[in-house]
Amino acid sequence: MGILRCALLGTGGIANDLLAPSLPFTQRARLWSVLSRSKSNAEAFAARHGAMSPTPAYDELDALLADPALDAVIVATPDRLHAAQCIAAARAGKHVLCEKPLATSVEEARAIVAACEAAGVTLGVAYHLRHHAGHRALVERIRRGAIGRVRHARVQWTFPAPDASNWRASAEVGRWWALASVGTHGLDLLRWVMVESAGEVVALRCLSSSPKFGAAHDESTIVTMKFEDGSTAELFASVLFRSKRRIELFGDDGYAEAEGTLGPRGEGEIRINDELLEFKPTNPYVGELDDFAEAIERRRPPAVDGREALRNVELMDAALPL
Ligand SMILES: NC(=O)c1ccc[n+]([C@@H]2O[C@H](COP(=O)([O-])OP(=O)(O)OC[C@H]3O[C@@H](n4cnc5c(N)ncnc54)[C@H](OP(=O)(O)O)[C@@H]3O)[C@@H](O)[C@H]2O)c1
Repeated sequence: MGILRCALLGTGGIANDLLAPSLPFTQRARLWSVLSRSKSNAEAFAARHGAMSPTPAYDELDALLADPALDAVIVATPDRLHAAQCIAAARAGKHVLCEKPLATSVEEARAIVAACEAAGVTLGVAYHLRHHAGHRALVERIRRGAIGRVRHARVQWTFPAPDASNWRASAEVGRWWALASVGTHGLDLLRWVMVESAGEVVALRCLSSSPKFGAAHDESTIVTMKFEDGSTAELFASVLFRSKRRIELFGDDGYAEAEGTLGPRGEGEIRINDELLEFKPTNPYVGELDDFAEAIERRRPPAVDGREALRNVELMDAALPL
């Protein structure tokens, strides 16, 4: 297969600042076209990021999907819109890379997975932190026993939102706020580290609160989990505080910590038993996009496939049900 021709659905923060600028640096994927609610906005985005299609700008999804030269869509719209857009793309025979979280309900997430499997298209979900070079080096060392069997893991990711104007905070377009903006990444990292040795999550407890803005959705969320082998994990996600973003892993024979790695840039410091882990920072979005394109080419699952992302939605739904 040659270059993967990708359409971006949505022209907001992640699409404009991180995904479109990363595409030219991938080995296998390029921006082909774009969907916006505003045609002029789509045209400006396509020109700004050098979309390759002779007709790159759309304000209607069906028209964008009708393009036979288009291979894949990258869904970068608010979470509530993911299901309809992913399912339409799958039915049109396009591969799908969906932003996290996959959907805002377990039913929608299942429907997306089913539609992609029925259409025989690849479904990947954009947990870019799996492509952080330091995280990859850390997980490899952990799998080789660097701290013995991991019995507990903790993720803390907070940031201070200026107000509650974000769509995630609203009852109409949002479903979860702290949990969907950053918490879902934490759940993904905890699953990545733990599930292989500890088995599936068998128990989950959650406390959430919206004490500052009185938002419709969680401003702070604490999730605790237990795995099949009795290991445990904690997540603290909040939109209220500046703090050190941290991952901590507690093993039978040692301790590992990552500080400042949770974010867009592939940076931060990781220590295993107080020893600095060497890694070369790379753009995790380039890694994510190349992984998706390679998964299609080699007919293998991407780093996070639909079924893994469905489990993440199941945990979010169990934590904060409707
Ligand atoms: N992995 C990561 O690092 C990361 C980081 C941030 C966000 N995300 C995920 O990416 C997705 C988009 O988040 P974002 O932060 O980019 O959001 P955003 O800045 O608000 O952009 C979302 C875009 O979706 C389009 N859209 C269509 N219908 C909309 C509606 N009813 N309300 C608002 N926007 C609408 C808009 O583009 P048009 O105006 O052109 O239609 C808008 O610019 C979410 O699923 C989010 O969780 C991932």
